[in-house]
Amino acid sequence: MKQAIVIGLLACGMGLCACTDRVVYKDPSAPVEQRVEDLLRRMTLEEKVMQVTQWTYGKNMNVNNVEQEMKAVSPMIGSLLYRSTSAVFYNQIQRKAMEESRLGIPILCGFDVIHGYRTIFPIPLGQACAWNVDKVGESCRIAARESRLSGVHWTFSPMVDVARDARWGRVSEGYGEDPYLNGVMGAAAVRGYQGDDLSKSDAMAACLKHFVGYAYSEGGRDYHYTDISSQALWETALPPFEMGVKAGAATVMSAFNDISGIPASANRYTMTDILRGKWGFDGFVVSDWGAVEQLKTQGVAADDAEACRKALTAGLDMDMVDDVYRRSLPELIAEGAIAEEVLDEAVRRILRVKFRMGLFEKPYVEELPDTTRYLRPEARAVARELAAESMVLLKNESGVLPVRSEVKRIALMGPMADNWVDLMGSWWGQGEAEDVVTIREGLEAEFAGKTRIDYCAGCDFEGEDRSQFARARALARQSDLVVLCMGEKRGWSGENASRASLALPSIQEEFIREMARTGRPIVVLLSSGRPVDVRGFEGDVDALMAIWQPGTEGGNAAAQLLSGKVNPSGRLAITFPVCAEQQPVYYNRRQSARPRLGRYQNLADEPKYPFGYGLSYTNYAYGKLRVDRTTLQPGERLVAEIEVTNEGSCDGKETVMWFVSDPVASVSRPMRELKHFEKQCIPAGESRLYRFEIDPERDLSFPDATGERHLEKGTFFLEVNGQRVEFELI
Ligand code: GLC
Repeated sequence: MKQAIVIGLLACGMGLCACTDRVVYKDPSAPVEQRVEDLLRRMTLEEKVMQVTQWTYGKNMNVNNVEQEMKAVSPMIGSLLYRSTSAVFYNQIQRKAMEESRLGIPILCGFDVIHGYRTIFPIPLGQACAWNVDKVGESCRIAARESRLSGVHWTFSPMVDVARDARWGRVSEGYGEDPYLNGVMGAAAVRGYQGDDLSKSDAMAACLKHFVGYAYSEGGRDYHYTDISSQALWETALPPFEMGVKAGAATVMSAFNDISGIPASANRYTMTDILRGKWGFDGFVVSDWGAVEQLKTQGVAADDAEACRKALTAGLDMDMVDDVYRRSLPELIAEGAIAEEVLDEAVRRILRVKFRMGLFEKPYVEELPDTTRYLRPEARAVARELAAESMVLLKNESGVLPVRSEVKRIALMGPMADNWVDLMGSWWGQGEAEDVVTIREGLEAEFAGKTRIDYCAGCDFEGEDRSQFARARALARQSDLVVLCMGEKRGWSGENASRASLALPSIQEEFIREMARTGRPIVVLLSSGRPVDVRGFEGDVDALMAIWQPGTEGGNAAAQLLSGKVNPSGRLAITFPVCAEQQPVYYNRRQSARPRLGRYQNLADEPKYPFGYGLSYTNYAYGKLRVDRTTLQPGERLVAEIEVTNEGSCDGKETVMWFVSDPVASVSRPMRELKHFEKQCIPAGESRLYRFEIDPERDLSFPDATGERHLEKGTFFLEVNGQRVEFELI
């Protein structure tokens, strides 16, 4: 008997389960770490090198090219940037990996599901302006289901780069200028994508990006150098990533940018010391597109071999599409320039995620029709609700909105009015233009039988064509209200879309002013991926609403806000500067040494619309801010409450934002910092209580330039909607 046990133990140690003669890595009942180690030790150097390599698949899914696309995929490839929506193609590729490779390691397919897969939700900047954490999570849940059913197991999302310059087109992809808001929304996205079990058929791995500091690109020029102080790194850039890691993000993507001289994709301090050493992240890091090869351009690598060595030893586990790892690693390992253990650790992390995703047991997807996979009614409903809550009412003179019952004719014009494509914004996933409800379609549906909608384009996004101005003027004069749908093309924000000016092209501004001269009430719906310089027309219009790029249901959402079916509840997650030159104007800056001096001589100091700004169709009255104590000790909590009453005649949703300021500390602190927020529905005439429990360690401490947190006694202020209460930490 004893001998049998010994043999059994020996066999298990060798990765063979004597009882079932199944190898451990193929045994779903075995612990993941055992399966990883068992598989890793079986792998050849070539198989390991292929695991840390990602290629693209599906550049051109024309049916005639499928064969060559299929041939191009090696059964050993670790990952594909997978662009096809076909479950059939996906299963064919995965079958190659599972059946034609020696060890049957499934391919991990990733894709940019940034704000939806086929059902497209508002751009993340718009989502942040909804301040609705649950709805953001729901949208990611839907995106995960649509993706996974199409063979996409992994999204390169959420992006949690804290916005600092609106000239940078990628402010559209993150959650605005506040670290806490980025962290809360990013964590909600991670939980939404991954659910409670990564192996489920409606879950997909998240990817926090771009690690780290990408938004500090100098002058808002994409991909450019970033000079980030260690204090800013720890205080602003890193916190959203830490919150995402704590939410269980499976992967992280390294950024293109240089971090004060050490590129993010070769930065051991960030990718190993902080991400793994301090935060305990045990997933894997994928490079951004070609970021390993770019280390040569950034001046820290003389050739591919050096780029490969620096990236891998810094903690970058998977090489996205430039093939540097695959071409360079065999020789670097053979000559001992990189220890094979370093490669093993990268492979280990990737295999761990694959096992956790259940890909070995369930590598294939059900081959369902599009109608079952995509755009289900509940998906459209969430898209519509999130879009409506994302839109921010910036101006509403003399209550021109919601549209009054006496308005019988609306003139609808502008380049965004009958526009399917640009409403989706950048990174539109697999969104199809014909899925989109245009603003014109939305209004015609919402106002059917009540108000006549007359449409003409009026003007284009840019150029000098005024040929439709006369017709537009005539139409405006015949109408009771003019709705102008203006803004940016989707390619004017997103990646590689830096713009020196935040203003709309002059033809759009001129057109708006022309329509205003007809004397009819003017409503502008402003679609953009960034804050816009509105000086050229804001004074000429009665109402202005930022609708961002609201996605598939954008037209319905905008129409419901115009009709008053939905009461606007959006609040700015990013400051609207007066103009590009006024930046930086993010709210959580530090105090000037001479606050009343040092201002521009030729430009206002206040932004056009501040962080947190947004109007409603109702009025919310804030009661007195109450705290249960004005002194507290570490370990105690201070409970703050405030009652908000909806004094208007229509129901609404109000977000209460709680800020803390710490006027004197060993490291100067931002003038105020968002520490908590809560959005509640408040029916007309009713009140709701909002509460914030201050935990000193969480809410009053701050990091120094090494990341060490400090909790210092002294005076603090709690701020809500203009009220301030002083309290002491003793
Ligand atoms: C791009 C972007 C990154 C994206 C990746 C894959 O260059 O920087 O956000 O996820 O490549 O498309």
